[in-house]
Amino acid sequence: MSATQNLTWWKNVAIYQVYPRSFADGNGDGIGDLPGLIARLDYLKTLGVGALWLSPVYPSPMCDAGYDICDYTDIDPLFGRLADLDQLISEAHKRGLKLLMDFVPNHTSDQHPWFIESRASRDNPKRDWYLWRDQPNNWRASIDGGSAWTWDEGSQQYYLHFFLPQQPDLNWHNPEVVEAMHNVLKFWLDRGVDGFRIDVVHCVGKDPTFADDPRCMAGETMVQINDQPYSHEVLRGLRRLVDHYPGDRVLIGEVNIRSTARVAAYYGASDELHMSFNFPPLDAPWDPVVFRLCIREVERCLGEQSAWPTWALSNHDNSRIRSRYGGSLARTNAAAVMLLSLRGTPFIFQGDELALEDTQVNAQTRVDPGGRDGSRAPLPWLAQTPHGWSGTAPWLPFPPEAEALAVETQESASDSTLNLYRRLLHCRRESTALRLGDWQELPSHPQLLAYRRHCEDDERIVCINFDAAEHAFVLTGEWIVEVASDRHGEDQPFAGLVAAHQALILRQKGSAHEC
Ligand code: GLC
Ligand code: CA
Repeated sequence: MSATQNLTWWKNVAIYQVYPRSFADGNGDGIGDLPGLIARLDYLKTLGVGALWLSPVYPSPMCDAGYDICDYTDIDPLFGRLADLDQLISEAHKRGLKLLMDFVPNHTSDQHPWFIESRASRDNPKRDWYLWRDQPNNWRASIDGGSAWTWDEGSQQYYLHFFLPQQPDLNWHNPEVVEAMHNVLKFWLDRGVDGFRIDVVHCVGKDPTFADDPRCMAGETMVQINDQPYSHEVLRGLRRLVDHYPGDRVLIGEVNIRSTARVAAYYGASDELHMSFNFPPLDAPWDPVVFRLCIREVERCLGEQSAWPTWALSNHDNSRIRSRYGGSLARTNAAAVMLLSLRGTPFIFQGDELALEDTQVNAQTRVDPGGRDGSRAPLPWLAQTPHGWSGTAPWLPFPPEAEALAVETQESASDSTLNLYRRLLHCRRESTALRLGDWQELPSHPQLLAYRRHCEDDERIVCINFDAAEHAFVLTGEWIVEVASDRHGEDQPFAGLVAAHQALILRQKGSAHEC
């Protein structure tokens, strides 16, 4: 099959992460919700993404912003009702947008009826649905960095939790748990969702010996370390289930291990994840040496097994792109060009298309026990306060420069980051080389990163300048600037220079594949 005939939808789209609490508010209580999101679907359509990944909207006590779920098959009243989710699916599909839900298999809330039963007594039929031990080991939990074991006074044993004590880990080694969780997936697949982002999927299999881990002594958490063969067996089961459904449903895993080689293993032999997140580029500073290594590593590790890469430079757990790159708008715009021109499926975290910076929280406004509020602030829609939210103060303060960065302000500014994302996404949709072409590094000045994307007779060259000085970039033939991160010189011949902090996409003069 030629690449142009490769119609697998998830290889052809950019995916937009919706953090529903902060996207758009439909009922004016200061918290984003499903009706608010539905009302803004046209914004996403116009932006040019092809799919949404919706962070959790299930009933939850919200100790971990909804990643502590007490009912997998309903919607928290904060976000709406099940009927709203059904409407979201159909309204998204009407616009040609796919919808992915967040599936959280590793742990439930401690308020989930399963855990309430499990902790009720040692001989409860659901006791073994969670992991109970008489003695803790040295495993360390994420978010608060404390012990991964909490003592249950009532039943006189410790239970395991890789995250907060309010998030007990499920025992996937118990077949009843596997069946119950398969039923959860079926529930949503039957309603028409197009796939799932799977939360910390590398954590579901646990070391059956429960031996101490020396790396925990050195301060690492189990979420960074856990990498058990059994997680792969679980994934094969999930994949078989999903493959039974028509329409190319997709599994995207959050494999939070900082090694691309280890991440690659979670694609299995095309019988586990369709795609996995890969965090080294997200951790990387804005540095050409580091990015060159990260990209080569992806091409090497995933290329070997024809596994399809993903690219994400931020999400709801990390500082925003612009905040990590020193607040520089020019670097943020250059990063957008890179993100949307590498080989693989790009993920855009809501608000990065507006070049938002992290919001500032203090002791009074802080919500997340893990200190991750910065990137989770409400999106400013309108220039004027309260920026398209209601008079009620939203649940977190707006990010800095909310007026200048609001959607309304950026829509009318041709050189805005929002219009750059629209242009980039348009070019991706139009160019098979950018979507599906191979990736080949080109020789350049060490402060530049240059590569060629190529598919059949379609070709693009991308050049990113990481430096505060301009550099020459020499090419044979005549080239046209198709996209410039600062929008300078677009549709003009490329003169062989890349300005400070600028990134360019070039097409050959006279190419039939203009966009
Ligand atoms: C993932 C989520 C994060 C959450 C954790 C526990 O890493 O992205 O937000 O706290 O899992 O579910
Ligand atoms: Ca609301």
